Amino acid sequence: MIIVSPSVLAADFSKLGDEIKKVADAGAEYIHLDVMDGAFVPNMSFGAPVISCVRKVTNAKFDVHLMINDPIRYIDDFIAAGADIITIHYESCDDPKAVLRYIREKGALASLSIKPATPAEAVYPLINELDMVLVMTVEPGFGGQKMIPETLEKVRAIRDFATSRGIDLNIEVDGGITTDNISLVKEAGANVIVAGSAVFKAQDPASVIAAIKN
Ligand code: DX5
Ligand code: ZN
Repeated sequence: MIIVSPSVLAADFSKLGDEIKKVADAGAEYIHLDVMDGAFVPNMSFGAPVISCVRKVTNAKFDVHLMINDPIRYIDDFIAAGADIITIHYESCDDPKAVLRYIREKGALASLSIKPATPAEAVYPLINELDMVLVMTVEPGFGGQKMIPETLEKVRAIRDFATSRGIDLNIEVDGGITTDNISLVKEAGANVIVAGSAVFKAQDPASVIAAIKN
């Protein structure tokens, strides 16, 4: 099943609650919340207090993408704010396994992301700690970029690795996904699709979400 996770980075923050409700009502099962610290990535966004405020507008799953250094420091805060899935970056900490275990221990789903230059093999030893892998299809930090097609080879490799071991893994892709390249992305093996600009800037988000799914 294909799950759509609109990234709120492309939303109008003056009415963030309404924007989230709009895309959830339009068929999004997840809401993708990009947290940036201005250190791991050259941009800043928002943190747990904002997530906690918008938690009440929808029952959609909150898919929290932490682009922050040493994420272990804030896992409790994001879980308290209502995160259902927490993604940390492989490149952001010394011991991703410990952080992933901590996320599960605290009752959320654990996910690991790799930047475009990080090989697929990085996630293999951690596969049993993971509910989802997020393959970045752009350099993290900004919405509205163009997808890097080569990153889809990693999606394919991770899907093959998981399938050959009988693991039903969620593989998420994030960055520059549109209705024009969605078929390539799905064909590579991704099943959780982040789309920021494509959904939030659309006249009719429901038709874009439907097009991504089908
Ligand atoms: C980039 C973020 C993405 C971004 C996606 O660092 O992780 O989630 O907002 O936005 P689009 O779909 O516009 O590329
Ligand atoms: Zn993201």
